[in-house]
Amino acid sequence: MTILSNGHQWKFSEFLNNKNYSFDKKKILSSLSEKEIDNAYSSISKWEGYNPTPLISLNKLSKELNLNNIFYKDESKRFDLKSFKALGGAYAVEKVTQGNKDIVVATATAGNHGRSVAWGARRLGLECKIFISEFVSDARGQAMSDLGADVVKVKGNYEKSLIECIKQSTENDWQIVQDVAWKDYIQVPTYTMAGYTVMMKEIADQINNEKISHVILQAGVGGMAGAMVAGIARYLDYIPITLVVEPDSAACVLESIKTGKIEKIDIKRESLMGGMSCGEVSLVPWEILKNSVKHCISLPDDDIAKTMKLLGNSSFSDEKIIAGENSAPGVISLIASCEDQNVKENLQLDKKSNVLVIGCEGDTDKEMYKKLINN
Ligand SMILES: Cc1ncc(COP(=O)(O)O)c(C=O)c1O
Repeated sequence: MTILSNGHQWKFSEFLNNKNYSFDKKKILSSLSEKEIDNAYSSISKWEGYNPTPLISLNKLSKELNLNNIFYKDESKRFDLKSFKALGGAYAVEKVTQGNKDIVVATATAGNHGRSVAWGARRLGLECKIFISEFVSDARGQAMSDLGADVVKVKGNYEKSLIECIKQSTENDWQIVQDVAWKDYIQVPTYTMAGYTVMMKEIADQINNEKISHVILQAGVGGMAGAMVAGIARYLDYIPITLVVEPDSAACVLESIKTGKIEKIDIKRESLMGGMSCGEVSLVPWEILKNSVKHCISLPDDDIAKTMKLLGNSSFSDEKIIAGENSAPGVISLIASCEDQNVKENLQLDKKSNVLVIGCEGDTDKEMYKKLINN
């Protein structure tokens, strides 16, 4: 080991086998249907500026870990938003407004989802209202204003911003575009997930004849992970080993899979992996993930900056990759799993393995990115 060692131990906090694991394609596609998935690809692939994002081989890292290949889906190149989130909110905006330019769209957000909604509204020439909590940075608020949205800062946390968004939207007849589902609010978040499945369609086209043996999926509320699992059910004719990774301070999917029912986490410390710092798995993804995720892993923040640096200075691949905080956990959990012989065997990671990791975002927060890689 050269790049990875120097006495550094790559850490995970918890590893869990799902005792209820069974990957049932039919059941998965009953939560997010083939028709929804196909409609999303058919629409989004026609958007101006659409290009599949690169699938990069982390060839240096796979050699080091003695794996066959590691595919890194680089979402830093997704439209001009630098995150897979561009596929979700913007697609939901298109679906709920159906060409009606008089509809005003609204959302509450910690940042990236709101940017996607604002960007989707601008694409279609719609008015857009964004509600953010007082804890969302000015830079993130500004990014949404720059996309033409009306940004409203609300005293209190995310929940408070959502309550205010619902209140004002009801009063003004605005259309709410949230990425989180709750009872009676299922269809719109399902559209956002359908948008995310475009990533899996592209990957299926990009891997040619190679077979993915393992998929590592980050989760916040689980929308992205659930969408990717549905994409696997739709586009692959085999089943890779599925692993969900979360911050140890907000491992809501892991804790829910442990008990077999949705568990709410009281987040005591905000993770550096900000987009993944969510206390409760959303309903639609939960229905997909509860059986189809084979393993869960949780991570501390310790290795995030180091991993971003190594991705950025081409230590893992032939090219430099701009990877934001939420892009690092896939790579970290893979390295940490390979360094633990029991976990490595449990996951069946060996020299034939082709592992897919998702680089969800680039430097969506430029200041934070600079701070972390120059540390
Ligand atoms: C920027 C960002 N936001 C959010 C998430 C989490 O997505 P979800 O809340 O759909 O699970 C991720 C990745 O997991 C991410 O990279």
